[in-house]
Amino acid sequence: MSNFSSKQLLQKALEARRNAYAPYSGYLVGACLLGKDGQLFTGCNIENAAFGPSVCAERCAIFKAVSEGCRNFTAIAIVGGPKDTPEEDLAPAYPCGVCRQVMAEFCEPDFQIYCGTPEHPERYTLGELLPKSFGL
Ligand code: THU
Repeated sequence: MSNFSSKQLLQKALEARRNAYAPYSGYLVGACLLGKDGQLFTGCNIENAAFGPSVCAERCAIFKAVSEGCRNFTAIAIVGGPKDTPEEDLAPAYPCGVCRQVMAEFCEPDFQIYCGTPEHPERYTLGELLPKSFGL
């Protein structure tokens, strides 16, 4: 049921990136989150003129999932880069610190994080990208 490859998840993140609303930074990000039950939740960054209310693609996807009752996750794929860079030339984009902390709220250290592009995937775990995370 939840047999998605890194390539498939990165492809869905790339497609979600096309919905990014980033008129201030010009940096577009898409994410695709895989639930343990096989559900997929996509997200994109959504900026705001007041800057503070902006949200990253990863948190967009996670908050969509949690708000729909899904709290257990296997993996997230992230694709980001400047709006003028052709999709096939995008360099890997890594999740910001705030998004890593939000992942840590819901995910175990073995949660998979796929970066890069469908053709050039990179794979990390949350434990690698956020060691010794804060928690209560
Ligand atoms: N951004 C994300 O969507 N995810 C990240 O992990 C890092 C940054 C967004 C926020 C902002 O809209 C733009 O990329 C530039 O920082």
